[in-house]
Amino acid sequence: MIIAPSLLACDFGQFAKEARRAHKSGAEWLHLDIMDGHFVPNISFGPEVVRVVRPLTKMVFDVHLMCSKPEILLEPFARAGADNLTVHVELGERVTSLLWKIRSLGCKVGLAVNPPTAVAQAEPFLSQIDLLLIMTVNPGFGGQPFIHEMLPKVQQAAAWRRSRKLDYRIEVDGGITQETALECARAGADTFVSGTALFGQRQLKRAVQKMRDGTTAAGKSPI
Ligand code: DX5
Ligand code: ZN
Repeated sequence: MIIAPSLLACDFGQFAKEARRAHKSGAEWLHLDIMDGHFVPNISFGPEVVRVVRPLTKMVFDVHLMCSKPEILLEPFARAGADNLTVHVELGERVTSLLWKIRSLGCKVGLAVNPPTAVAQAEPFLSQIDLLLIMTVNPGFGGQPFIHEMLPKVQQAAAWRRSRKLDYRIEVDGGITQETALECARAGADTFVSGTALFGQRQLKRAVQKMRDGTTAAGKSPI
């Protein structure tokens, strides 16, 4: 199980300090939400912030592009130190070329699915990706409640992975708490993005460990 604290929920006045706190927590990945004010109704931060944070930790930088024109951003984020680059399946016919571009930049390839979008839209791309990100809130803001109706999508993603002998990670993002993480783990998720529920904790390390232990146990009793 991989735990990925989302920097969106950190104190924006203290990026460096917060990145170090995430590093010390023992979390494997750091999730970086990039919002362009167009694909989603909010703006977060750009490649320069990623570049500044990069030397502070060896954590995998999991960059989630909630952007209408990721084609112009993939290279800047790769250069800034992204390890994973995730684009949205809602971009339609541009998805194939975006996935190729990410691969050619030497990054792991991620594909995200918004709540109103059927997970079947991601099906044609499954053999080309390293991670499938199932959004469990409508993207744009941290701190929203988990949408339980997304759990069948996680189960479907896990069923496809088994039947096709693929090995993409199944990542959930939005409203992930100690409780909802367990439900996702039972449904087949193995990668847990959590902003508010983790960064809000004084003892981040303990919270990360609890989520890892809990989801590891829950993953052994699938629903
Ligand atoms: C939502 C973002 C999430 C966000 C999750 O638009 O994609 O990554 O940081 O935050 P929480 O865990 O607070 O829902
Ligand atoms: Zn995200």
